[in-house]
Amino acid sequence: MKAVVLISGRGSNMEALLKAGLPVEFAAVISNKPEAYGLEVARQLGIKAVVIDHRQFPDREQFDAALAAEIDRHAPDVVILAGFMRVLTDGFVRRYQGRIINIHPALLPSFPGLHTHRRALEAGVKVHGCTVHFVTPEVDVGPIIIQAAVPVLDDDTEASLSARVLEQEHRIYTQAVRWLAEGRLMIRADGSVTVFDVSRQIAALISPQPDAR
Ligand code: GAR
Repeated sequence: MKAVVLISGRGSNMEALLKAGLPVEFAAVISNKPEAYGLEVARQLGIKAVVIDHRQFPDREQFDAALAAEIDRHAPDVVILAGFMRVLTDGFVRRYQGRIINIHPALLPSFPGLHTHRRALEAGVKVHGCTVHFVTPEVDVGPIIIQAAVPVLDDDTEASLSARVLEQEHRIYTQAVRWLAEGRLMIRADGSVTVFDVSRQIAALISPQPDAR
């Protein structure tokens, strides 16, 4: 499987994917921001790193057209959004529908959009997490592939909670891309995702921890 990864910043999810030993050829990493730290990380790992600066384009359509042209030069099977912080046009998403995935730092459908950790703390939820999903034109609502839940602790700050979630992001994104590469994902007619040959585990995360009695 051939993949192109889109980033906007730090690139830790991208780095986790590049280093995971996946059966994937990473053809290029593309950032919409020239200063994205992840570009340097990609180059150090020997991956072609390209900038398509959204500020150079008069509108979303023209930026997305340039982005699609660069992606298509590599003829990838999948497009992986890894902290890519631009909303994509419907036309762009449709072009790659079924083969474009994203990671979101919340348990969707809770907390779509930005500042998810702050909003989770404000809402007082006791469980938070992250989601890998197929991308559809509406932001943060596509078919869910995998989620990880973490406890929210009493003394959590945005920083401590985001660090706990990020560790799980790296795990589930790697797993989701591996499943995709292995051809083990199917989007059903009702929009839900099936993973073939996955082991069933029924364990609850309860937070805060109940007393042992
Ligand atoms: C990650 O937490 C990712 O889930 C989030 O941005 C961060 C990027 O970190 N993505 C979104 O909020 C998408 N709307 P990274 O650059 O270190 O992977």
